[in-house]
Amino acid sequence: MLYRRALRPLLFNAAGRDAEAIHERVLAGLAAISRHAGLTRALEIASSFGHADDAALAREVFGLRFPNPVGLAAGFDKNALAVPALAALGFGFIEIGTVTYHAQPGNPRPRLFRLPAEAALINRMGFNNAGAAVVAARLATQRPVRVPVGVSLGKSKITPLEDAVSDYLGALELLYPHGDYFAVNVSSPNTPGLRALQERDRLDALLAALMGRLSERATAEGRPAAKPLLVKVAPDLDDAALDDVVDVCLTRGVSGLIAVNTTIARDGLSAATPVTLRDELGGLSGRPLRERALAVVRRLHQRAGDRLPIIGCGGIATADDARRLLDAGAALVQLYSGFIYEGPGIARRIVKGLG
Ligand SMILES: Cc1cc2nc3c(=O)[nH]c(=O)nc-3n(C[C@H](O)[C@H](O)[C@H](O)COP(=O)(O)O)c2cc1C
Repeated sequence: MLYRRALRPLLFNAAGRDAEAIHERVLAGLAAISRHAGLTRALEIASSFGHADDAALAREVFGLRFPNPVGLAAGFDKNALAVPALAALGFGFIEIGTVTYHAQPGNPRPRLFRLPAEAALINRMGFNNAGAAVVAARLATQRPVRVPVGVSLGKSKITPLEDAVSDYLGALELLYPHGDYFAVNVSSPNTPGLRALQERDRLDALLAALMGRLSERATAEGRPAAKPLLVKVAPDLDDAALDDVVDVCLTRGVSGLIAVNTTIARDGLSAATPVTLRDELGGLSGRPLRERALAVVRRLHQRAGDRLPIIGCGGIATADDARRLLDAGAALVQLYSGFIYEGPGIARRIVKGLG
């Protein structure tokens, strides 16, 4: 395959460039394409060569229509720079962010590491993003795309945990017009204390406020239903904690779950990965996360049944990986690390394999 044989070695070995610098370059290229309707269309034609749209894969989930079930996960396009080009690559939906109310630089670099032997990444980005106002202004001028755009919301680092609710509400207020759905990110390992928001009482307070605001907006706009709100969970929660999340989400009438975020565990890494790399602080994603993601989706689905549609995420690189998550109960899937390792054709290849 062209990407793996030719382009990936070039990108991965580029002298003097860390993984994040390469990411920024690729994103800048996709952003440049996104600014031109003609280039975006050309990318779409080139990337769909030999891949007919499969209408049988389209589905309606939490009131939105998805042309296919394979989305791009949060974190790749944190500032919504390249949504049209990413949609042109065949993703069935794009989740931008995580966006916080306040702009913030994130953790010091280096903060993104490749583990090629495991097709994995470790990152401790720390929600580097331009802030909700800037991202909202950008989305307001971006050409519309034919796939749902989700907006992932997080807590600003400078905001104390006790004030998390007003911080999330502030970001929601600014980004509300531009998201087809909203994801509450309470599961990143890279913002101190954030994951405590998954605890029953804190989660309940946060979701009550966000759901309240979404239904107020729906009433004001005369919408028949509020825009969907999803909760993204960590793979490091035990079964009792996962059950708590499901119960709170059901009580609050949340639309769905995203499972999973990156893990702080380092299980199952091979000896090919040096210990120094394995011990980098941050969240692990990619192939080593695959089995845990499957187990979490299965557990959540057992508890919630069809009342809470799940977006399965973690370690997807092939159609088979995606199918296993769908069979475990996911209604949709999304990926990030597979895009880095398998290249820009990954969405279309998986969609073709699922057809
Ligand atoms: C560099 C990087 C940055 C990420 N940033 C975010 C983020 O801002 N918000 C979020 O919800 N998830 C973020 N994630 C997690 C992914 O969305 C996804 O949940 C995780 O990587 C597992 O999927 P994967 O194995 O397909 O990569 C990030 C992942 C990576 C590798």
